[in-house]
Amino acid sequence: MRVVSGIQPTGNLHLGNYLGAIRNWVRMQDENDGDKLYFLADLHAITVYNKPEDLANNTREMAAALIASGIDPDRSILFNQARVPAHAELAWLLFCTARIGWLNRMTQFKDKAGKNREGVSVGLFAYPVLQAADVLLYQATHVPVGEDQKQHLELARDIAQKFNTDFEAEVFTLPEPIIPPAAARIMSLRDGSAKMSKSDPSDLSRINLTDDADTIMQKVKKAKTDPEPLPGDKAGLEGRPEAQNLVGIYAALADESVDAILARFGGQGFGAFKPALGELLIETLRPITNRFNALRQDTATLDSILIRGAERASQLATPTLAQTYAALGLQK
Ligand code: TYM
Repeated sequence: MRVVSGIQPTGNLHLGNYLGAIRNWVRMQDENDGDKLYFLADLHAITVYNKPEDLANNTREMAAALIASGIDPDRSILFNQARVPAHAELAWLLFCTARIGWLNRMTQFKDKAGKNREGVSVGLFAYPVLQAADVLLYQATHVPVGEDQKQHLELARDIAQKFNTDFEAEVFTLPEPIIPPAAARIMSLRDGSAKMSKSDPSDLSRINLTDDADTIMQKVKKAKTDPEPLPGDKAGLEGRPEAQNLVGIYAALADESVDAILARFGGQGFGAFKPALGELLIETLRPITNRFNALRQDTATLDSILIRGAERASQLATPTLAQTYAALGLQK
């Protein structure tokens, strides 16, 4: 088993990232002896304009946020993509296997490009191929992600399969996505039909792992809801996306089923449920926020962790990259 996953170092770590992906990264650290590689996807971040002076800081801050969330740089290999050139190198080799038609189907590109398809960077279009390189480079078997990344992982499998077939060589392992059933898709607090995201202009739409207790409680109290009391079971949440999201967040945080939460809160209004959810969020996030605040200023320690991680990752990347060159008939 080899676990690989990444996160873009833009903006804050938010509750969607934490429940959808990072909490699984942390849990998988303890699961078996295989390598765990977790990285800051800085090469993905530059697909849209980023102020250069912000990118380096954001990368360190996201590393601090991951460590604060429980990623242990001694048990996991934590690094930033740009320090391991093999990612960009393999991406080029895989661009020649990926098909334009496959990329045209990527829903995240359609969402991000919107009506401006001709005006966005080539990198934004090609991004899922770099993502495929990220996991195929290490022969990843398991990739813990939120549901929005499922399509990108399917593309990685298609690329791996086509390459292995075209060049008659078993170079790449087909990776499996690991998607948490309870928190695969955490929605915005302002709109139950939109995903919680760093790019939402309203900060009220998300809980950041850096928010203090008052801010968290305020955001939960302001979260959009409907006027009905909570139902007694899961079926009663149908057609109530905001209620479904808040109950889902509670269940994921408490590690209990939605039905168990509704057995407790069914029949009560949001006036009772929201403060309980706010408290649970505050209690869960407090130790993470405290560790994050202690770490974030320590740039020397963070840089040395990332440099050490990149050295270990580079070693693991070398054999696959060499096999890919060889399979293609390229002389190195
Ligand atoms: P990114 O940075 O957008 O998100 C990081 C992780 O958080 C998950 N996530 C969510 N899960 C549930 N609910 C949400 N509202 C929510 N928002 C985000 C994402 O699914 C993801 O797992 N392209 C990737 C980064 C990446 C990557 C990779 C991931 C680059 N290379 C290789 C896996 C393997 C991205 O932009 O994630």
